[in-house]
Amino acid sequence: MQNIRNFCIIAHIDHGKSTLADRFLELTGTVEKRKMQEQFLDQMELERERGITIKLQPVRMIYKPKAGSWEPAAGSRQYQLSSEYILNLIDTPGHVDFSYEVSRSLAAVEGAILLVDATKGVQAQTIANLNLAKKQGLVIIPVINKIDLPNARVDEVEEEIVHLLNYHDRDNLVVEKKETSGEILKISAKTGEGVDAVLDAVIAQIPSPDTKHKTSDTNFRALIFDSAFDTYKGVIAYVRVFGGSIKSGEKIKLFASKTSSDVVEVGCFMPQLKKELTLFGGEIGYIATGLKNPGQVRAGDTIFKLSDGELAEPLHGYEEPRPVVFASFYPEQNDDYDILKDALSKLKLTDASLIYESESSPALGRGFRLGFLGMLHIEIISERLKREFGLKLIISTPSVEYHVTTVRGEVLRVRSAGALPDPNHMQKIEEPVVNIEILSPVTYMGQLMKLVTETRSRYMATDYLSKEVVSLRYQAPLSEIITDFYDRLKSVSSGYASMSYELAGYQESDLVRLDILVAGERVEPFSKITPREQAYHEGKRIVEKLKTTIPPQLFAVTLQAVIGGKIIAREDIRAMRKDVTGYLYGGDVTRKKKLLEKQKRGKAKMKERGKVEIPQKVFLEMLKK
Ligand code: GTP
Repeated sequence: MQNIRNFCIIAHIDHGKSTLADRFLELTGTVEKRKMQEQFLDQMELERERGITIKLQPVRMIYKPKAGSWEPAAGSRQYQLSSEYILNLIDTPGHVDFSYEVSRSLAAVEGAILLVDATKGVQAQTIANLNLAKKQGLVIIPVINKIDLPNARVDEVEEEIVHLLNYHDRDNLVVEKKETSGEILKISAKTGEGVDAVLDAVIAQIPSPDTKHKTSDTNFRALIFDSAFDTYKGVIAYVRVFGGSIKSGEKIKLFASKTSSDVVEVGCFMPQLKKELTLFGGEIGYIATGLKNPGQVRAGDTIFKLSDGELAEPLHGYEEPRPVVFASFYPEQNDDYDILKDALSKLKLTDASLIYESESSPALGRGFRLGFLGMLHIEIISERLKREFGLKLIISTPSVEYHVTTVRGEVLRVRSAGALPDPNHMQKIEEPVVNIEILSPVTYMGQLMKLVTETRSRYMATDYLSKEVVSLRYQAPLSEIITDFYDRLKSVSSGYASMSYELAGYQESDLVRLDILVAGERVEPFSKITPREQAYHEGKRIVEKLKTTIPPQLFAVTLQAVIGGKIIAREDIRAMRKDVTGYLYGGDVTRKKKLLEKQKRGKAKMKERGKVEIPQKVFLEMLKK
């Protein structure tokens, strides 16, 4: 047990977590060099293609420290050279939408490598993730990455990190003071420079699990931090064992879900599942439960042994992930409803934060209302439904959850514009607000402040992280920042600014429902709830954009934006004129006229039927502002 270290890598998106994990895997011989491919732990096709980590991924490595150039600093825990250490690493995603993955990983480890890109410096998720790690009381090892790049600003970034670590944040959480900046390791995850020193620091500075937790407890207790599904072995719980030990064949029970089962298999992550005889206290591994219903194995729940009776206390779990954005998904073909239903239940197995409930609409048939952690989450899920299940979908304008108080005093939770009651029946509408933190080089402060003032936001505070880096804090309605705020932030700051946000409650606002009519018919997915003062511009913007995105039809199509029965904007898409006479060479005017007449009659007929086909790409295009 003395020789186990459990840790994870936390960072802002793209600062090099997966690349550093690759070097660890090579250095410890966990993955042979010839089998190595970049970002090895990103196993999903979509993760590899986009170069982003979406899911946490645990891996076990065996490491023998050699006498190197790096010596543990005075006062840090000593380690023995040449003896073997078991390192359990969890690679985590960096994007704000997936911070739930990070918080689950943090509860399973004793330490975290805080990785900062030497060219970009401290960014918003660096701070957000650091705060999560501090709340768990983890040992933090700050590391500066990408020192091989010519534009690396190692000294300045070091100054930012020292400031950050010593900085008494809002929650008054302080980690061990880093008085001398010399302790911060500088590496290149790409070339491998300095990477062994990071592993040495992990061993020297992160406590072994039994020093921190009483893993010598005889009662078996394990925290579930993730799960997967296997047709033969049932739900596989990814666990951190805090005490006791477990073998296959033993009977377990799950505290919150009050389920029991026989353990089918236990093992560790190499990173693929590797069967072991026993899983001991302090270890990270998996328990195949044999259970067929994924709902019974929830992240945050504690697994006990049935034989230990009712005595044991459950471990501290996690807060359930709170979806913040909702959107309806309808299959383009009504027959695909069952495929969509099946697909969602499969995605739910690898993504506990995804929630969905069935819904139906007169215009679109049967579909689902889905809850997401953010806009990137919507994009990832719709992309996976398309790729992995071949589904063509109609996706509605995303909405936050509004609290509506009716004149009768009932409080309704409204997650789509379609569900908003008639204005006469409403007393007030409240919308969620968030605290946003933006980190940026000082040069862009002017443009950023201008951008933020366009969003019904309220200024809160400014802090300087160093002479060059400033942190701006605002409070704003969530609906203002879920659509394209992040893209605009990136564009006004040439990509340098970053942001993170957290929910801060609800506020009353003056909101109205905006509907869009295409050829006189309301297209439900385009309806949205919007601030009254912006409704006119928003309606105009939507119909103008639709005019260029809906492909021309054989007849003219009117686009209208409507609030409470009143048309506030209108655009027309001109009829596409199909050249029905093209194949007639010269001469015969009467024949040509005849054909044009026929076309005209055809169009009139179509207009009667009035159905405008709106392809999926139009809905996706409309998601972007
Ligand atoms: P997310 O999982 O999406 O948050 O990203 P990440 O933190 O895992 O970053 P990743 O390892 O995917 O690296 C992002 C990019 O930086 C990739 O193109 C890497 O090749 C590159 N990169 C990582 N480390 C280094 C480094 O030390 N030097 C250089 N030059 N590039 C690096």
